[in-house]
Amino acid sequence: MPDLTFPDGFLWGASTSAYQIEGGNAGSDWWAFEQAGRVSEKAGAACDSYNRWREDLDLAAELGLGIFRISVEWSRIEPEPGRYDEAALAHYLDVVKGIRERGMQSMVVLWHFTNPLWLGRGRATWLDESSPHAFEAYTRRVAEVLGPHVDWWATLNEANTYVSHGWLHGDWPPGKPFRIRAGFRVYEYLARAHRLAYAALKDTLGPDSRVGLTHVMPWAHPAEKGGVLSGTMCRYWRWIMEHHFVDKVCDQLDWLGVQYYYDSPCQAFRLADEDGCVPRTDMGWRIVPEGLYHVVREAARRYRVPVLVTENGLADAADAQRARFIIDHLAWLKRATDEGVDVRGYLYWSLLDNFEWAYGFGPRFGLAGVEYATCSRTLRPSASLYARIARENRIPEGLGEGLVYSDGTPSLAPC
Ligand code: BGC
Repeated sequence: MPDLTFPDGFLWGASTSAYQIEGGNAGSDWWAFEQAGRVSEKAGAACDSYNRWREDLDLAAELGLGIFRISVEWSRIEPEPGRYDEAALAHYLDVVKGIRERGMQSMVVLWHFTNPLWLGRGRATWLDESSPHAFEAYTRRVAEVLGPHVDWWATLNEANTYVSHGWLHGDWPPGKPFRIRAGFRVYEYLARAHRLAYAALKDTLGPDSRVGLTHVMPWAHPAEKGGVLSGTMCRYWRWIMEHHFVDKVCDQLDWLGVQYYYDSPCQAFRLADEDGCVPRTDMGWRIVPEGLYHVVREAARRYRVPVLVTENGLADAADAQRARFIIDHLAWLKRATDEGVDVRGYLYWSLLDNFEWAYGFGPRFGLAGVEYATCSRTLRPSASLYARIARENRIPEGLGEGLVYSDGTPSLAPC
């Protein structure tokens, strides 16, 4: 592969989320869901990042990253409706200041799947008309405290994932399977929440604040043996996964965070993601780097705002595929920037191994491995490759030569 240099000022970073790393978030609906025995593993102390956040930021700085993403935990900040915990706010203020002190830009996500137990009058979480207003008030308070120290704000992370797990599969809180109508109503309330929060951030921080959201976009395309209806299935899947929610709020977006993990090969009435010979992650997810190029290009074309890749990564405990995975996804991303797509940065998911929701602690996504018994962090070999790319703002020629996926597949970078 020739030398691939990214545009000047391109941001290299890593992402995290509060519930998955902090530990002890006992006021949230996820915690209650775990206590009720609805998932096999509990988050417990997680990576203890609420206490060890300095170590995390030091790791990110050691890698030479230019941007670091956190989320703030609503249930900690507002343990009861209208009562804000000043110590929790001061904690997050220290964290965002710490990010800047280490020379990185800060990205703050206000909602990453977890809700205070009292939301929706303690019964209905996002199925209550009070919920968007509660989110607005919380956003305003967070903005007042953290505002001057935050470079990028995201209101909501992956409304699509939340609705599909919470209201279709039912394996996440509130644990309601097959509630399709309710799921669509949740989308409405989440969209309203985004709009109110967007206005609150602008009102508090001024018109130059950068407010967006982050959304996962699997690349829907016809399966190899897709059949005649595969195109229809693709259009449906693209609509429900990529566009349905973002279309509702796209007039209030300064930037969009695109998150990409795998593609969705479509056949009539089904996804053919179990089929085919592609390399796979430890979780069995398909590794199809080309998809990142398509979803980023489509998002930028449709929404006409700058894009950041705010999550991309894989579960790979042995760190056997991560370097190849990163290089190949970046090579496709570079093709998009070469074509003039306005991509401002790439944030690997995740800095650390963490609590992977209903899968528990098994999947290992981290640039740094975490030994959960002691919470010690150790950078994996692939992290130094990523650090080199970040420092040089390029994939130097020959980097990753000889690296193959675990099934023997060679590079999947564009030819
Ligand atoms: C979520 C993360 C999650 C990651 C890997 C994303 O959809 O935002 O919370 O850990 O995917 O599953």
